[in-house]
Amino acid sequence: MAAGGTGAVEINNNNSSSSDHASPASSGRAEPGRHPRNRPDRPAVGWSTVPDDPLEPSGSASRTRFPATRPRRLRQTPALRRLVAEARLSVDDLVAPLFVADGIERPHPIASLPGVVQHTVDTVATEVKRLAGLGVPGVILFGVPRAEDKDALGTQASHPDGITQRALRAVRDAVGDSVVVMADCCLDEFTDHGHCGVVDPTTGQVDNDATLPLYAEVALAQAAAGADVIAPSGMMDGQVGAIRAALEGSGFHSTAVLAYAAKYASALYGPFREAASVTIAEGGDRKGYQQDPTNRREALVEVALDVAEGADMVMVKPALPYLDVIADVRNAVDVPVAAYHVSGEYAMVMAAAERGWIDGRAVALEQLTAVKRAGADFVLTYFAGELAEVIGG
Ligand code: PBG
Repeated sequence: MAAGGTGAVEINNNNSSSSDHASPASSGRAEPGRHPRNRPDRPAVGWSTVPDDPLEPSGSASRTRFPATRPRRLRQTPALRRLVAEARLSVDDLVAPLFVADGIERPHPIASLPGVVQHTVDTVATEVKRLAGLGVPGVILFGVPRAEDKDALGTQASHPDGITQRALRAVRDAVGDSVVVMADCCLDEFTDHGHCGVVDPTTGQVDNDATLPLYAEVALAQAAAGADVIAPSGMMDGQVGAIRAALEGSGFHSTAVLAYAAKYASALYGPFREAASVTIAEGGDRKGYQQDPTNRREALVEVALDVAEGADMVMVKPALPYLDVIADVRNAVDVPVAAYHVSGEYAMVMAAAERGWIDGRAVALEQLTAVKRAGADFVLTYFAGELAEVIGG
């Protein structure tokens, strides 16, 4: 018996005498009437070496120290772990991003996003029906126009018969109100230069203020086609206010805005650009309008502006490299907080899983649960359908 060897068995600060611990109960032998799981264990080796904390009043320190405190007690069974889980991922937290392409006859696979396709208008409606059946509460649609329909101003983005609007109508007809239908509100899929706004020919920069009325037009077209939620992703200053004003001005009082509020200029959007057929002209990037990955406090400036401009919900994107930002945003605002587990995050998990290096499904669950733990209320993820099948009711 371990205690016998030390000769000084004492739980600190609880005034026990060593004889309390020399009882037969501490021998570890099975006793009649005791369930094996509740059989007393050996006294802990070394518990007498925990020194008294002079700052703790007598009696309280034992509650925060080994052996009075043993976190493993609450990890013993699946039921206990379930009971004390601080964060959990439910099917109710999932939003599925879906691509719908113009001018294709059948779904088109996306090499860098295994399991994700560019849908036709018909198949996207069928897919949203399937997701609704699995209990997924939301989808977000990305329209991909034909190459010949792109132009400098991305005019097809707001055309009533543009690909996004056709898809929105088809999805709305297919599932009614059973799924929240969101529309990504941006121009990059529709511009021939691949930027998210109007490019000023003299400076070559994206012109913030000239882009705002175009976003307002896109939002109105999407709302008219049946979108419940407009999700501006272009990171123009003032975009939420411009969209909210346009929606109110046209009677779309109930159409909500999910602001991509803290969206970083991330290298993790690569597979999305394949999925959405977007190439930024002249090897350009979006560092002039999306946030610099070095900045944490700046996210709170972005979020505060968007909430002040009328955002109903705010989003942080990407997710895993920005868990600190998700936690900060959660603490700073009272509106729902979303996180986007983006294409590159999905692709990395799928690639490693394909090689048999990780258990992809387990990693996906762990990652998305971490996003919830950091404070997100819901997550946009390409794993939505697969995880709904696993965790759904
Ligand atoms: C812009 C937009 C992008 C994503 C969502 N909306 C691409 C970008 O900013 O370059 C990326 C999503 C992903 O990587 O999964 N319309």
